[in-house]
Amino acid sequence: MIPGPTPVPERVLQALGSHPIGHRSQEFQDLVHSTTQKLKWLHQTKNDVITITGSGSAAMEAGIINTLSRGDKVICGENGKFGQRWVKVARAFGLDVIEINAKWGEPLDPESIKEVLENDKEKEIKAVILTHSETSTGVINDLKTISKYIRNHKVALSIIDCVTSIGACNVPADEWELDIVASGSQKGYMIPPGLSFVSVSEKAWEASERSNLPKFYLDLKYYKKSLHNNSNPYTPAVNLVFALEESLKMMQEEGLENIFIRHEKHKLAVSNAVKALNLKLFANSQSLSPSITAIELSQMSAETFRKIIRQKYDILLAGGQDNLKDKIFRVGHLGYINDRNIINAITAIGLTLIEEKIISDTELGKALQIAQSYLK
Ligand SMILES: Cc1ncc(COP(=O)(O)O)c(C=O)c1O
Repeated sequence: MIPGPTPVPERVLQALGSHPIGHRSQEFQDLVHSTTQKLKWLHQTKNDVITITGSGSAAMEAGIINTLSRGDKVICGENGKFGQRWVKVARAFGLDVIEINAKWGEPLDPESIKEVLENDKEKEIKAVILTHSETSTGVINDLKTISKYIRNHKVALSIIDCVTSIGACNVPADEWELDIVASGSQKGYMIPPGLSFVSVSEKAWEASERSNLPKFYLDLKYYKKSLHNNSNPYTPAVNLVFALEESLKMMQEEGLENIFIRHEKHKLAVSNAVKALNLKLFANSQSLSPSITAIELSQMSAETFRKIIRQKYDILLAGGQDNLKDKIFRVGHLGYINDRNIINAITAIGLTLIEEKIISDTELGKALQIAQSYLK
C-alpha cells in the first residue's frame, strides 16, 4: 500500500513475461499504435502522448527542456517534495523561478497564482509548473481552477506533474487545455517502473521550436517524428509496452468513470476510518488526494509503526519524506487496489494501535463500520 510501485495485476505480469520482440517489427509498431490510442483515451486528449523509457522524472524534465529557454521566467508551485523537485529541475536548467509556496499539507492557493499572472503585463512568464497530486503530503491541488488562470494569461504554458493523478481522478487534458502532462508507469498505470508519459499540446510544440535548452535523449521532436510511424527513436522497454497494452485494456474494461469512483471511495474509506481511529489527517481535508492518504502519528515513531505493520501483517505503508520522516505515515490507494486491500490496511493500522495501547477495540469497530459505509 505505497503510492508506487503499485501492485501489478496477474494479466499484466503475464504480458510482461512474454519474449521480447524487435522494436522495428510490424508487430511492435502495431502495439505502439494501439497503446498510443489508449493513452490518448486515458489522458482525455487529442494531443500527442509520448512514451519514454525512463521514470516519471524523465517526463517532467522533458516537459521543461523541450518548451523553455535559458533565463525564461516561470512560476513553480511548491507545496511538497515533488513541487520542490520541479523547482530543482527548473533551476538546474537556468530558468528564472518565481516560487509560489504553500505549507506542506495545504493546497496551493489558485488566487496567488492568478495574481502573479495578472500582474505580468509584459507576458514574461513562460510557464506555470506544478504538481497535481502531491504524493509526499497527500494533497491534491486545484488544477481545474489554476489551469483556467493559466489559459487567461495566454502566453504561459501549463507544465503539470500528474504522476499520481492520471488513472486515479479526472484530468481532462483537452478540456483544461493542459500543455504538458507528465506521468509514470508504476502508479495508476498498474505496471512496473520504467516508462513515463508526456502529453504535448499544439501550443507546447510551437514553444518547442523556440526552446534552446540542451537535450538529446529527451528531445521530443524525435519521439514525435517516430510516433507518427508508430515507432521510437531509441530501443524502448519492449516488455513494459506489452504490459502497458494489457493494463490499458483492463482500464478500458473498467471504464474511466468507474476508475475515478473506485479511487474516490477508497480515499473516503481510508481518510474517514483513520479519523475514527483518533488519528489526524496530515492534508487539509478539503484537498485529499485520491491516490494517497497521509496520517500524522504523534503517539509513537511512525517508522516503528510502519515496521510493525510490515512484519506482523505483511503490509507495506509509505513513510514521511524529509522533515516528515517519522512523523507521518502514508497509505497508498493508487492503481490496482480493491476493497479487501483497504479493509486489510485499516484493520492492520487499528490492531497495531490497539497493541500499542493508543486506542481501544471500540474505535477499530467504529472505523471498520465507517470504512464499510463508503465501500458499498
Ligand atoms: C507526484 C510525483 N511526481 C514525480 C514523481 C517521480 O517519479 P519517478 O520516481 O518515477 O521519477 C513521483 C514518484 O513518486 C511522484 O509521486
